[in-house]
Amino acid sequence: MSIIKNNFEKMNISKIKNSKNNKKLTMITAYDALFAKLFDEIADMILVGDSLNMSFAGMPDTLSATLDQMIYHTNAVCKGAPKAFVVLDMPFGTYINENQALQNAVKVYQETLAAAVKIEGGADKADIIKHLTSNSIAVMGHIGLMPQYVRSEGGYKVRGKTEEDTEQLIQDAIAVEKAGAFAIVVEGVMSDTALKITQAVNIPIIGIGAGNVTDGQVLVWSDMLGFFEEFKPKFVRHYLNGAELVKESVNQYRSDVQDSSFPSKDEEY
Ligand code: KIV
Repeated sequence: MSIIKNNFEKMNISKIKNSKNNKKLTMITAYDALFAKLFDEIADMILVGDSLNMSFAGMPDTLSATLDQMIYHTNAVCKGAPKAFVVLDMPFGTYINENQALQNAVKVYQETLAAAVKIEGGADKADIIKHLTSNSIAVMGHIGLMPQYVRSEGGYKVRGKTEEDTEQLIQDAIAVEKAGAFAIVVEGVMSDTALKITQAVNIPIIGIGAGNVTDGQVLVWSDMLGFFEEFKPKFVRHYLNGAELVKESVNQYRSDVQDSSFPSKDEEY
């Protein structure tokens, strides 16, 4: 299969905003330079998601990720993908109030080349988002199913199943847009609700588990490449059977070592 990198256009805030109703945006997570390099010049945006706490650090949820961890991984991603528009996910507890959020976001800009930060929360976080955007921090919102709320909500729950919740989500999106966010991730939302949210705002809605009605999509790289084996959420499509391929290859390596066929004469000095 040939690798197509045609039409790659380096993203910035205005191009992202202008893509609404023009071009569907593709965002993928990355946590290290090796994979970020593979996604550079293909994905419109790379998200250093706090999901790394689960897939990379093996924790049961995202809540114990720290800002220093996120900064470390973001630097690796920016090194690997110098052309990408990189977004750092602000981890749980780092944007509790306006001052703390600004201090932490400034630290992100000072210590990484991230283009923007992502914040989970709707109307309840609008003041914090406004404080960041009015101090020159680019913010991507995140509403709907918000993984940082998993313990307080008692699980991951699909949103937008009732009229009342749909209205709440629309109001959340409008509040986040008004606060100055340049795009919003909408996660785990019924697709008819996602459509209403997408139509209610003028900034791109990037969906995950929200149907194909949004202005773009985001997937966690280890989910879409089939490396995460524990379970496959309904909204994930496997574009590769990564785990299977890796295990087959390592098994082959072991058997080559055991029967001395590796290394061969060509592979020795
Ligand atoms: O942390 C993450 O990877 C995310 C995506 C699921 C949007 O927030």
